[in-house]
Amino acid sequence: MTVKIFDDYNSMSAAAADIIIETVKHKPEALLCFATGNTPVRTYEILIEKAKASNTDFSRCFCIGLDEWIGVPKEKYGTCHYLLHQQVFNPLGIKSSQIHIFDGMNTNIKAECNKMDAVIDSKGGVDCMLVGIGINGHIGFNEPGVDVTLKAHEQELHGSTLASGQHYFNEPTPISKGITLGLAQVLKAKKLLLLANGKSKTAIIKQAVEGELTNKVPASYVQRADNAIIIIDKEAGAQLSAK
Ligand code: GLP
Repeated sequence: MTVKIFDDYNSMSAAAADIIIETVKHKPEALLCFATGNTPVRTYEILIEKAKASNTDFSRCFCIGLDEWIGVPKEKYGTCHYLLHQQVFNPLGIKSSQIHIFDGMNTNIKAECNKMDAVIDSKGGVDCMLVGIGINGHIGFNEPGVDVTLKAHEQELHGSTLASGQHYFNEPTPISKGITLGLAQVLKAKKLLLLANGKSKTAIIKQAVEGELTNKVPASYVQRADNAIIIIDKEAGAQLSAK
């Protein structure tokens, strides 16, 4: 694990965008995984600007989504499907044939998990994965207490995740469960970018980066991942001793 602390949200976002661009330049057929949430919004804006400015060709890469709400139609504003298309795929001209996102409306969630596992295996693993962190230490929807050996799976969501999740939608939306890549897949990404910014993430970043390795804080497992780059602003890193 490497920790990189930036002066502000904009510079950390630019650094994350640079790594995604480098990945695609180096391996045009890269498998990329994107997360939703507030944290990566600026990274995606900068990624689009830099991709245009550097003529980076995304036409051969393949993209997956980190997680999805179960029981919410994908066309609805706020789903991973909707937001990733709006913020990343459409602006970059990534075609539907290059994308696989969990279908949270599939009544057979196990089959949905198997499909995602098969996509990742068929591409030889994820080349670059961008994730955020929940205030309870979740990555994707890997909530505290999760079995860290799991691949894609269904997850009952905790109160803080449901409360913050509601903000992604533009109207009250019933949510209770999610479908997510498992930590086994997250930690194996060839480059794992964990982003966090702002005061609301200071305490959990301290626990994740310098605390005990425990599934009570799923993100603490990044400490074991040589491939993990923790990209944070000064505020999120304010409690770290090794600054
Ligand atoms: C959500 C998502 C995660 C996201 C996290 C942090 O529950 N499932 O993928 O990374 O919470 O969100 P934010 O970036 O809005 O703080």
